[in-house]
Amino acid sequence: MAQHFDLVLRGGTLVLPWGVEQADVGVRGGRIAAIGDLRIVHAADEVDCRGLHVLPGLIDSHVHLREPGDASVETIATGTKAAILGGLTAVFDMPNTNPSITNRDQLDWKRGYVTGHAYCDMGLYVGAAKSNIAQLAELEAEPNVCAIKVFAGSSTGDLLVEDDESLERVMRSGRRRICYHSEDEYRLQARKPDYHSGMPHRMHAVWRDVECALLGTRRLMTLARKTGRPAHILHVSTAEELDYLKDYRDLATVELLLNHLTQTDEAYDRLGGYAVMNPPIRDERHLKAAWAAVADGTVDTVGSDHAPHSRAAKERPWPDCAAGLTGVQTIVPLMLDHVSAGRLTLSRLADLMCAGPARVYGVVGKGRLAAGYDADFTVVDMKRQRTIEESWIVSPCGWTPFAGHRCTGWPVMTILRGQAVMREDEVLGAPLGAPVRFAG
Ligand code: DOR
Repeated sequence: MAQHFDLVLRGGTLVLPWGVEQADVGVRGGRIAAIGDLRIVHAADEVDCRGLHVLPGLIDSHVHLREPGDASVETIATGTKAAILGGLTAVFDMPNTNPSITNRDQLDWKRGYVTGHAYCDMGLYVGAAKSNIAQLAELEAEPNVCAIKVFAGSSTGDLLVEDDESLERVMRSGRRRICYHSEDEYRLQARKPDYHSGMPHRMHAVWRDVECALLGTRRLMTLARKTGRPAHILHVSTAEELDYLKDYRDLATVELLLNHLTQTDEAYDRLGGYAVMNPPIRDERHLKAAWAAVADGTVDTVGSDHAPHSRAAKERPWPDCAAGLTGVQTIVPLMLDHVSAGRLTLSRLADLMCAGPARVYGVVGKGRLAAGYDADFTVVDMKRQRTIEESWIVSPCGWTPFAGHRCTGWPVMTILRGQAVMREDEVLGAPLGAPVRFAG
């Protein structure tokens, strides 16, 4: 009997876990049903993928979509629309909203809100605060929670757990991998008086220096070793931490940001406040170390840390300007451009943005082009050349630090659980996003 599929992707070059091969993919009921030669099968719908690469749906495991918060900057609807336009099928959303997501009621609200508002699937972080440490074990076991997020150094919002005693209590409440913003708060505060309004933006990397990041990571890993609690060190930004963390791979996984793989401190003079983020963009030495860590396997995930702010907030003089850069819509084109430049392969990209997040966070049913997995696909044209323009950005804040960057390689289609949700810059239909499932 002939097999029937809802959708067949024909003739694409598939980025499979075991290699890159040309084959067809059959989809049934929102999941991958077959991979191989499907020329004789019936399909309700077909997409001609000849000349294109088909990746597992790419995941940005680090975004700030700001809802609840300031809708003139970003919302779940606009941020996830940006995600699918940029070729992502899932994002994991940070808890430093206004108010922050730190309790069950807020989590319930957010989980319920995803359906009907989100254009891609979403994992949800819960924020650690000194007031909710005793509840963290329960909160991390809630459905759709990707991880507990700890700001061990202060950044945007009011979440902060900076002292060793509280951090140890956090580590002893629960057992899943904890995600850390690792900058040493004591060093940050002690040196703050040395800096004043109107200093050049590049002072951001002097204030939040290498020592600040390394000290933060050392303190966290000492406590992680003491408690045995696994850690995901977010946005590692220094050569020194990447070297140091190689001795903690039994406990630690590592995230790098697209920005730290793409920008260096020349950006401060060119972009002013639009180059300011935490941890900061640093010099060429750290960028080179970041790529070496991609090459040697130290890095598990790459995210955007999409952190929209109003233009007014970014244009205040340093250090009063808001820290954080947009990136959810541009991470895939820029990573494809890095592939085109020979800095990594498409297989390593799928490892960093599909299999990596799946492994680190325990995602169920995603992150792999394989039978039975969700039919999430990012279809890319590696020959397409296109310049990133601000007019393309759909986040209401309306800016990108990468305007004018010419990319070779571009996402042309995003397919979410078997439904085409973006094709050639067009958002197709209503928001179909659902909460991501995690093995608790
Ligand atoms: O630059 C940053 N912006 N780093 C963070 O850790 C938070 C983020 C934000 O939410 O604005």
